[in-house]
Amino acid sequence: MRSFPPGFLWGAATSGHQTEGNNVNSDYWQREYAPSSAIPEVSGDALDSLHRYPEEIALLAEIGLTSYRFGVEWSRIEPERGHVSRAMLDHYRRMVDCCHEHGLVPMVTLNHFTVPRWMDALGGWHHREAAELFARFTEAALPIVADGVEWVCTINEPNVIACREGAADPGAAPVAYGMARPHRRVSAELARAHLLARDVLSQIPAIRSGWTVATQAIHPLPGCEEQAYAYSYPLEEFFLEAARDDDFVGVQAYTRTFVGRDGAVGVPDGAETTLTGWEYFPDALAIGVRNAWKVTGGVPVVVTENGIATADDQRRVDYTRAALTGLHEAIADGADVRGYYHWSALDNYEWGSWAPTFGLIAVDRSSFRRTRKASATWLGAVARANGLA
Ligand code: BGC
Repeated sequence: MRSFPPGFLWGAATSGHQTEGNNVNSDYWQREYAPSSAIPEVSGDALDSLHRYPEEIALLAEIGLTSYRFGVEWSRIEPERGHVSRAMLDHYRRMVDCCHEHGLVPMVTLNHFTVPRWMDALGGWHHREAAELFARFTEAALPIVADGVEWVCTINEPNVIACREGAADPGAAPVAYGMARPHRRVSAELARAHLLARDVLSQIPAIRSGWTVATQAIHPLPGCEEQAYAYSYPLEEFFLEAARDDDFVGVQAYTRTFVGRDGAVGVPDGAETTLTGWEYFPDALAIGVRNAWKVTGGVPVVVTENGIATADDQRRVDYTRAALTGLHEAIADGADVRGYYHWSALDNYEWGSWAPTFGLIAVDRSSFRRTRKASATWLGAVARANGLA
């Protein structure tokens, strides 16, 4: 048995826009439904998690997990600039309470890619005071996390956001692989937003705050080590360095990226790929964790996302087992890792497509019936044993 440290958190993660449904006031919804939109599929009702979260939380607890990471939607909480919806604050607070009722530790993400339409109209993260706007939102959202929430992620994958803003196509999906070059000013603005939000959250001593980084497991092609670092730094290390004074850093790992003389190159010929077209590469997790631990200079790590888009659930188990084996070795080598959250709890809206299924739980989108997969039962057993048999 490969045992994990006592109190290690075993969870699954979701985001608001990918699960809630009818998130009509967000920038991404607007992009999905724009007449000229190139986004192939829309989110629509999504999984109707807005109403069905109690069932999901109960299921995660029943599976044997000990924590749930979910996101709150800025566009629901602050639908117009300066107008804060008490009803939505209550809604998200009920989600926190529901986690407690089922014995799950809640982890709350304040921003998972989407912003309100009014914020988008101001230029989104390009706005000169985007950081202040996010800090004000964080202040408004405090009642959700003020009592009984220890773990708060400020911004999910700021490096993916910066790359999306650096992409030529404004409708580009926010994905953690094959990314464009990050927009430097947006990267800096996100770092400023994170610091301001962290200050707001520090009013509540029990909160541990951090942000989550999409680590890339960069592999230089022979002789391209320098190019690889030049490629990697603004994409990954910049964001890890910004976490040096945080309570934790979130690592989100899926696959690796090869870098040659002129930047990233595609998946090697013949390599196994997943439903997102990414290489099947479970070692990405240990590589991401080791890099985060090194670059932050010893900030505790939480694996806030790791998973695989596949229709073959046994392959999900294989991937996760291999990823956790590598994680266990990284811990044995000294990395302080506090938890592992699988992406995702449910098959959800994968930013423009419903095809890549990342979930431990399947969802029939007509009846909204949830069905747990064998991989969920498997991960639940790992969580109960706090170890890998
Ligand atoms: C994101 C998720 C996304 C997942 C798989 C991460 O980049 O945080 O929203 O669904 O990876 O692409």
